[in-house]
Amino acid sequence: MRIYDLILKKRNGGILTAEEISAFIDGYVKGSIPDYQAAALCMAIFFRGMTDGETAALTDCMARSGDMIDLSRFGDLTVDKHSTGGVGDKTTLIVAPIVASLGGKVAKMSGRGLGHTGGTVDKLEAIPGMRVTMEREEFLRQVEEIGIAVIGQSGNLTPADKKLYALRDVTATVDSIPLITSSVMSKKIAAGSKSIVLDVKAGSGAFMKTPDDARILARNMVAIGKKCGRRMSALITDMNNPLGTAVGNTLEVVEAVRVLRGASKGDLYDVCVALAAEMTMLFAGVTHAEAESLVVSAIESGKAFQKMQEWVAAQGGDSAWLSSAGYGDGAALALPVLSPAHGYLSAMDTEAIGSAAVILGAGRSKKEDAIDYSAGILVHKKTGDAVEKGQVLATLYTNDAAAAEPAMKRYLNALIFSPEPPAESSLIFDIIR
Ligand code: URA
Repeated sequence: MRIYDLILKKRNGGILTAEEISAFIDGYVKGSIPDYQAAALCMAIFFRGMTDGETAALTDCMARSGDMIDLSRFGDLTVDKHSTGGVGDKTTLIVAPIVASLGGKVAKMSGRGLGHTGGTVDKLEAIPGMRVTMEREEFLRQVEEIGIAVIGQSGNLTPADKKLYALRDVTATVDSIPLITSSVMSKKIAAGSKSIVLDVKAGSGAFMKTPDDARILARNMVAIGKKCGRRMSALITDMNNPLGTAVGNTLEVVEAVRVLRGASKGDLYDVCVALAAEMTMLFAGVTHAEAESLVVSAIESGKAFQKMQEWVAAQGGDSAWLSSAGYGDGAALALPVLSPAHGYLSAMDTEAIGSAAVILGAGRSKKEDAIDYSAGILVHKKTGDAVEKGQVLATLYTNDAAAAEPAMKRYLNALIFSPEPPAESSLIFDIIR
């Protein structure tokens, strides 16, 4: 079988067989298929799409391209969550300890920031001392003992996705529904949890710009997970604003702690309660109303924050720091962004806000860049808010004086003002079960 023929077949709108897809993944992982041919095939898939059968075969081959984690010792209690990526999305730091405090087993592998989106592993590393690598047995022992362990992706989990994702990132082929489906679901299936809740983001800061596209992606992923014997659910949530108020690693940990301690309500709290309730429904077999009330009482009783402290300590982190850290800690500069207009904030280009945070040092422009954990943005005004000229819309934090002006420009250019309030929008567009 020649890879040239597969590229040509897909380019002309043909349907690849499971054997052809398997030959592609096998050859690409082994290195016999070069990047330029894999990139050409990804671009053909981007334009021609894939049938459900092709997407399922691709997901299966990618999941089996490396190690598969066996979590069977935990029975049906294992539960995972995956976000398709957003700005200010620190939900894992909140929902994972909530669910673990309710008896779920969260054995989670998370990613680093990509482009304008942040990653859980970078946020965890903002906690002094926190380790995000562990040997397999230690990882499983921690899950057994305290119900939760979150680490970076282990060495040989879905090597096909590792290679393909890096290639897609630089060949403009990330935002393809079959390619995202196979990337996300291969990792989730290889990671072994019985129940999986997906947070599919839709809007200006997400890969899927509209709820309709996000719905198609969510349905595909839920169907594939169910075919593989997993309990599945997907929420379609808004990414037309940063989630919560903090963007940047330390800032986001501080905000996550505030939510877990019941000190912060709003969109972040609402999305986290919805995600944690969905996870609890799946692993505990309770109704949605029961799950939601369990989640709220885990926050209000302090049980969820106590679980976060236990989790951080177990991974070598400074759990006392969680209670003492504050917004802006470690950043030499705090720069107010002043409103140039009077009226309403009618829209935010969330992707541009994410890239303003990257300019400040919160993310990487190149893979090898170091992160400044204290850098980022605290958003004071979001879409729909009334603003006065000269009012502080956001505070930018950085240690890099040269970043201040370009980040400020990027932030202001991301905002649209209007004399009238914009139409109200939903936070959770849909739930696919
Ligand atoms: N997140 C992933 O893990 N993969 C994608 O392709 C897109 C978002």
